[in-house]
Amino acid sequence: MSRLIVVSNRVAKSDGTSKGSEGGLAVGVMAAMEKDGGIWFGWSGKVDNKGEAPKRETRGNIEYITVNLKQSEYNQYYKGYANSVLWPLFHQRPELMQYSDADLSGYLQANRKFADELLNVIQPGDTIWIHDYHLIPLGKMLRDAGIRNAIGFFLHTPFPSLDLLRTVPGYQKILKALLHYDLVGFQTIADHMGFCMGVSQGLGGEILKNDRLRLGDRHCTARVYPISVETSALAGVAQAGENTQEYKRLYSSLNDRKLIIGVDRLDYSKGLVQRFQAYDRLLGHYEEFIRQVVYLQISPTSRGDVQAYGNLAKRIDREAGHIIGTYADFDWMPLRYLNRGFRRRTVLAMYRLANVGLVTPLKDGMNLVAKEYVAAQNPENPGVLVLSEMAGAADELDAAVIVNPYDVGAITGGLAKALNMPLDERIDRWRKMMDVLEQHDIHSWQSQFLEDLNFVTAPKLATAVN
Ligand code: F6P
Repeated sequence: MSRLIVVSNRVAKSDGTSKGSEGGLAVGVMAAMEKDGGIWFGWSGKVDNKGEAPKRETRGNIEYITVNLKQSEYNQYYKGYANSVLWPLFHQRPELMQYSDADLSGYLQANRKFADELLNVIQPGDTIWIHDYHLIPLGKMLRDAGIRNAIGFFLHTPFPSLDLLRTVPGYQKILKALLHYDLVGFQTIADHMGFCMGVSQGLGGEILKNDRLRLGDRHCTARVYPISVETSALAGVAQAGENTQEYKRLYSSLNDRKLIIGVDRLDYSKGLVQRFQAYDRLLGHYEEFIRQVVYLQISPTSRGDVQAYGNLAKRIDREAGHIIGTYADFDWMPLRYLNRGFRRRTVLAMYRLANVGLVTPLKDGMNLVAKEYVAAQNPENPGVLVLSEMAGAADELDAAVIVNPYDVGAITGGLAKALNMPLDERIDRWRKMMDVLEQHDIHSWQSQFLEDLNFVTAPKLATAVN
């Protein structure tokens, strides 16, 4: 029987206790897998040096197979090359890269460990779908070990232009590794173009018809598949979340004030410094909002032991302290800044309550918070999405109030516009965005990718059988 094996570094918590700090990949893949099931292979989230066998656990129709990382693997692969080189590079922050040969070799070793474990799992006919920047070399390693199955790869983050990619030593290997997949999926046209230009200009490869690329005897197909959300379900989950104690406490604490909400991992790509500065400016320049508005920023700590994240946390603390010290009163707190996550239905209910969803990353692959905020709204009284033009989601959700996330004044203007927007304009903008999300939800994202993977590999697999 043909099975789907999804492989990613981060695996959604299998016990349903997720507090929403796992990022877009876990949320998106979970929603996609819940429907048809399959095997989900990845890191357990635990670090230990014992070298235990992978843990297997079935929940619903998903079998989770997870491995622990050794301390050295965690340091060199996760903290090191993945999150101190590839993450800043792919998010246009090369000045934050901390490259070392040792981290690169730890990254390759951890990929090899994933490959070795997967060899015990993969059966002929399985479809293998690998996700994200942590596991770029994994496809080639599986091929080298003799795996002939269909192997697809999806990148959840942006992909850089060739100029930027060139800033990392050995960048050609990243491009070459991706060419070993049958199908490579990107979030946006710009990411796809970055890859195609990298292959043609950086490696001297050819761009052929039907999104095919060739380098020597290697062929691969590369296309755009913007990830989405479970559109039809989210409003219902948000309504269910209105029964939670946390929601009720938030609601009553507002005292009819307007709510602005931001939900982001505490990451320098999310534009939180500029966002806080824009809110500071809003309160400084528009007296009408004093005591009338509350900004709730939910930012669970993420990768806190990577230096750039520690520095960011301190900087955000200062910005938050400044806003509270300047504007708060004994009976009004303009900013509520929380370094913790909440259960999913509670967050969705908070989205539904918020008059403004503030999503202003400096660079983001897609940003599913933006899409979830829209899908959670009450159709008769929807809130307004203020969205960065640097998020992949802006390509589709152009009926949002679009802002440049580096332009603090523009974010302030966007916030004021959103807070004052009349109901008919709010409905009109929301409807346009919902049309997009209804046409392209998480299930169509998954089926489109897997159908294409099946299609591009069919001739090759037929030859292998014959
Ligand atoms: O949006 C997807 C993503 O950025 C993943 O690439 C990443 O796994 C996740 O969010 C959160 O990061 P981490 O796994 O380091 O906690």
